[in-house]
Amino acid sequence: MKFGNRTLVLLSGLLCQAGTVVSKDPPLPPWYPLKPWEFSGFRAQYPRYGPYGPNETSMEFAISNPSLIPAGPAPHASGGGYVVFENSTATCLIHWKNDTMTPHGNTKTTCPGTESGATHAEWNITIQQIIDIPPTNYIDISFSLAYRLHAYGSDFYKLMTGNVRLQTGDNMEGGCDDAGRCSYGLIDGTAPLLVQPTLQECKYACG
Ligand SMILES: *[C@@H]1O[C@H](CO)[C@@H](O)[C@H](O)[C@H]1NC(C)=O
Ligand SMILES: *[C@@H]1O[C@H](CO)[C@@H](O)[C@H](O)[C@H]1NC(C)=O
Ligand SMILES: *[C@@H]1O[C@H](CO)[C@@H](O)[C@H](O)[C@H]1NC(C)=O
Ligand SMILES: *[C@@H]1O[C@H](CO)[C@@H](O)[C@H](O)[C@H]1NC(C)=O
Repeated sequence: MKFGNRTLVLLSGLLCQAGTVVSKDPPLPPWYPLKPWEFSGFRAQYPRYGPYGPNETSMEFAISNPSLIPAGPAPHASGGGYVVFENSTATCLIHWKNDTMTPHGNTKTTCPGTESGATHAEWNITIQQIIDIPPTNYIDISFSLAYRLHAYGSDFYKLMTGNVRLQTGDNMEGGCDDAGRCSYGLIDGTAPLLVQPTLQECKYACG
């Protein structure tokens, strides 16, 4: 076998890992729409001290794909089957400062992610906009996830995107005190927020 011993292969409705059945969640067709991602652990604070010096805003959160996603066919597996991309979680911490030097700060970044097995996951996030006009405060964040996996001599690949709107009173709470210190988080009981991914680019197992 060409694939590493931690590559998951779906066979006859069961997942096999080095010959061992490991999952009750096979990504059998239909695969689309994709299952939701989960957004949690959100916290935004001002002022913070960080890479841009004092008076930065910082924002942290986790974005996770908890589901197995088909990567492509496993042509030499007995009875056929599919190689799958495994679940992945990224933890993001970004800082920005609204001044003439960094008017929008660092609003786009690659977040360190956890990966399983042979699946390589790359998560990027972009802060699309922050509207801060009381009583309306909202933050739009977009995510992209690239999955790559080399198995059976093929380079399996998928690029997916999703986005979330955090809005005070809806899923986000917080505000600023008289001293200008601000803090926001998710309203208790709302996490994880579900983020619907859409497939943007794909090689193998695309529909
Ligand atoms: C940080 O913000 C406070 C309050 O607005 C201000 O007094 C202080 O000068 C700022 N510090 C810097 C280094 O910008
Ligand atoms: C994948 O899911 C399993 C079971 O829920 C969990 O234990 C593991 O931490 C997850 N891995 C990643 C990379 O998120
Ligand atoms: C940046 O600061 C300026 C001046 O205080 C303000 O008018 C503008 O709305 C701020 N922009 C953002 C994105 O917060
Ligand atoms: C993440 O951003 C980097 C740098 O802009 C880019 O090269 C890469 O393709 C992006 N990946 C995803 C998954 O969006």
